[in-house]
Amino acid sequence: MKISPSILSADFARLAEEVQAVEKAGADYIHVDVMDGHFVPNLTIGPPVVKAIRRCTGLPLDVHLMMEGPDDFLAEFAAAGADILTVHVEAVVHLHRTLTEIRRLGLRAGVSLNPSTPVCLVEPALDYADLVLVMSVNPGFGGQELIPEVLPKIAEIRGLIIQKGRAAELEVDGGIKVNNIGAVAGAGADVFVSGSGIFGTPDYGQTISSMKNIISPRRPQRSPRKKG
Ligand code: DX5
Ligand code: ZN
Repeated sequence: MKISPSILSADFARLAEEVQAVEKAGADYIHVDVMDGHFVPNLTIGPPVVKAIRRCTGLPLDVHLMMEGPDDFLAEFAAAGADILTVHVEAVVHLHRTLTEIRRLGLRAGVSLNPSTPVCLVEPALDYADLVLVMSVNPGFGGQELIPEVLPKIAEIRGLIIQKGRAAELEVDGGIKVNNIGAVAGAGADVFVSGSGIFGTPDYGQTISSMKNIISPRRPQRSPRKKG
């Protein structure tokens, strides 16, 4: 069970400090949202910022490419220090080629799908992806509400991962907060992206530990021994 804070909701003027604060607070990955103004209606950051973040944390950089034509930039993001590169199934034509190239660059390969994209489009990729990222909001902006209709899709993908005997991580992104992370975990996710749900709270340490308390698998309770 991993927490991947999305720096989209961090204070960009103090980015190094913010990344180090969530690392200290118990984050497992740092989620970096790359937006191109075409695939999504917003512009954010690119490889130079990934390179700068790489210098201030030892955590894996979980880079989410919300862009058209990501193939032209994979090597650049790898050189900048990304650890996981996730592309959108809606944005690439030759998914097998793209994911194979990410692995060839020595990175973990992720595939993401938007809320209205059916699971069957990513199913073949489960054989050559290290991570599946289910969007629980329409990508483009932080601070949106989780779309609850996405939950059965998470369960469906978890079922396929088990059925195929794969070890791919199942990440969910968008609108995750302390009050709904339990439902997302219950559907079968094991990596949770949260932007405003962490950076919008006053104490990142307390927020991340509350999240982890909710999602960590409970140990079965031992029944008390009978006396006599
Ligand atoms: C949405 C991004 C998300 C987003 C998460 O387009 O991919 O990573 O920043 O932010 P919250 O948790 O605020 O929805
Ligand atoms: Zn994201």
